[in-house]
Amino acid sequence: MTEREQELIRLAEEEVEKNKEVVESDPYRLRYHLMPPVGLLNDPNGFIQWNGTYHLFYQWMPFKTGHGAKFWGHYSSEDLVNWKHEPIALAPSEWFEKNGCYSGSAVEHDGKMILFYTGNVKDADGNRETYQCMAVSEDGVTFDKKGPVVELPEGYTAHFRDPKVWKKGSDWYMVVGAQSEDLTGKVALLKSADLVKWEHLGAIAGSGMNGLGDFGYMWECPDLFELDGVDVLIASPQGLEADGMKYQNVYQAGYFFGKLDYENAIFEHGDFVELDRGFEFYAPQTTLDEKGRRLMVGWMGVPEQDEDKHPTIKHRWIHALTLPREMKWADGKLLQVPVEELALIRKDQLIEKSDLQLSDVGVGLDVGKSKSFELSLSFEKNVVSFELDWSDTVQLTFDASESVFSLHRKSFVTGEWESRSCRLQVLAELRVYVDSSSIEVFLNGGEEVFTARMFPDESVSGVVTLSGDGTVGELGVWELEG
Ligand code: FRU
Repeated sequence: MTEREQELIRLAEEEVEKNKEVVESDPYRLRYHLMPPVGLLNDPNGFIQWNGTYHLFYQWMPFKTGHGAKFWGHYSSEDLVNWKHEPIALAPSEWFEKNGCYSGSAVEHDGKMILFYTGNVKDADGNRETYQCMAVSEDGVTFDKKGPVVELPEGYTAHFRDPKVWKKGSDWYMVVGAQSEDLTGKVALLKSADLVKWEHLGAIAGSGMNGLGDFGYMWECPDLFELDGVDVLIASPQGLEADGMKYQNVYQAGYFFGKLDYENAIFEHGDFVELDRGFEFYAPQTTLDEKGRRLMVGWMGVPEQDEDKHPTIKHRWIHALTLPREMKWADGKLLQVPVEELALIRKDQLIEKSDLQLSDVGVGLDVGKSKSFELSLSFEKNVVSFELDWSDTVQLTFDASESVFSLHRKSFVTGEWESRSCRLQVLAELRVYVDSSSIEVFLNGGEEVFTARMFPDESVSGVVTLSGDGTVGELGVWELEG
């Protein structure tokens, strides 16, 4: 480890120590989500199960609640719910990463864990350079930096980052988020036999390709994997205009499915589908675990979307990761289901009911002062209308006549109600995870998902109200452990 690296790590650790009290005294500190110990967290990175243990890294700025020269923070877990904060994995100490060890991924090779990440370099005039770098670990805790392995290929600007690597047959492949010289967003595909020498095969998707039309000026954080016989490409495009209920956030995260022709580097695909319909979701990353499950975690935040207004800033931290979700493929659609291990954090079952008749008046469910709970319900027959209210801060509504499901929250900027919506033909089932300042809603076995931060005031009501027109078949509410 270089002296500079040691110094940066020491400074970051000091920052954690210095701010521990103020961070941990925040009533909005989440109980069962991954957060930075201080400062700003953004993308999940290097998600992998290695020698049985899950590792999840994250983009981290320890010194302020804004963006800058990122570190890789590191969590590990045996079960995806109990996480241990590990020592810092990467600090931006070397010339090829001096303005940030940006996003990337992890693979296992010859028993080692190998990270690929973007070395971000900027000069005094703001000119950028980008290097895709490699770091190797034998113990899963300390990482030996090998420096750049990919230089910028021709045809792209220096907005070329976020390598995601996987193995297919005996070859390695890498997708990189990119901007081509005509200033449109792309995903570049590269290939290697040994993880060190990489060949650029070309752009496989992007604005103006595969019938897409104009589709943004930069695509970040791509991920490509096979799921039940189809190839899924995830990307976070920047520069899409809002379109009805779609693309309401500042930046989007979604997927295409199709078939990747590895020989010719051609990816035929269909429409872009947003992965999450809530307010805060971006830059997700997946991994294949030892059980063969495709798991995904996202950043519960969006770049430049009121980041300077988050109420947690006064406690010197901002943002969190989503719960891990298992991806499934059914009827031409990607489903996202909270991983089954989440049952491990259930404490007391607060409520168990069946055949609950909904009415306009509403049924109050006492969830105590717990602030973090899970609520699951399924409907008997098709529900006509449904509303869930919590703490005068969030509301979920479904109207069958309009086929619209919405999440409403009190804005943490203006205090006014604001909404995100999607088309939904039938509401059959609903699973909600509430934490001290977040909500994740899974509809119909993960057909649609809404993720959002929300900030109830001090007098959290402790009562969830359900109303509408229909019958709830089964209802369960569990307090969750923090
Ligand atoms: C996405 C992103 C990535 C980049 C990282 C920097 O949120 O902008 O493209 O690698 O964050 O923190």
